[in-house]
Amino acid sequence: MTLNRTPCLAAAILALTWFTSAADAQPASAPQSGIVLRNTITGEAMSTAEGKPGGRDTQAVKTFLETGKNIYIDDKSCLRNGESLFLTSCSGCHGHNAEGKVGPGLNDNYWTYPLNTSDVGLFSTIWGGANGMMGPHNEDLNPDEILQVIAWIRHLYTGPVQDAAWLNDAQKKAYTPYKSGETMPADAKGQCPPLKD
Ligand code: HEC
Repeated sequence: MTLNRTPCLAAAILALTWFTSAADAQPASAPQSGIVLRNTITGEAMSTAEGKPGGRDTQAVKTFLETGKNIYIDDKSCLRNGESLFLTSCSGCHGHNAEGKVGPGLNDNYWTYPLNTSDVGLFSTIWGGANGMMGPHNEDLNPDEILQVIAWIRHLYTGPVQDAAWLNDAQKKAYTPYKSGETMPADAKGQCPPLKD
């Protein structure tokens, strides 16, 4: 028995080391634990528990927090709402068509924070803010409304389609650049009920 002791111990240490490093290597956005929202500037983890009430139990928010996918992209009823929310909360600084004003343009392929090319990154910037005048918007928009605003911002995009990292291949094929002045019909059908004022 004593003969086996050393290799046994070595194997145990090896197994332990492997186990610990495997646990460390677990990506922060592992599918079973959902996505992690991080502040765009500080990198601190953020929770959607606080902020404007409501808009947390929709299928879209659940899917987003689980997979990072925004199922409102290209849904006309959500674009209609997103347009209205964008005009209230964002266009004063970012311009009517997100062409840029005090804040940078959000309709081209240049991003100060490259993570904003993912909807998780864009959600994080809107929820937690960035520098200077870009404050957090989690008090005027709830998580579901932020997904609607994101859908509208993605719709306003006029840059090259190959740089639209937030679109999947099918969405890239169907993509037509936004034309200035284009609005969504008030009675557009889809997943988003009309906003209550
Ligand atoms: C009071 C003015 C103001 C308002 C209102 C505002 N922003 Fe901003 N925003 C800014 C400024 C200024 C910056 C640049 C900050 C920086 O670089 O850190 C910015 C940066 C951003 C960025 C980062 C862009 C990039 O290139 O990476 C995004 C995304 C953004 N804003 C989205 C929004 C959305 C969506 C809304 C509405 C919910 C909004 N902002 C409302 C002023 C504003």
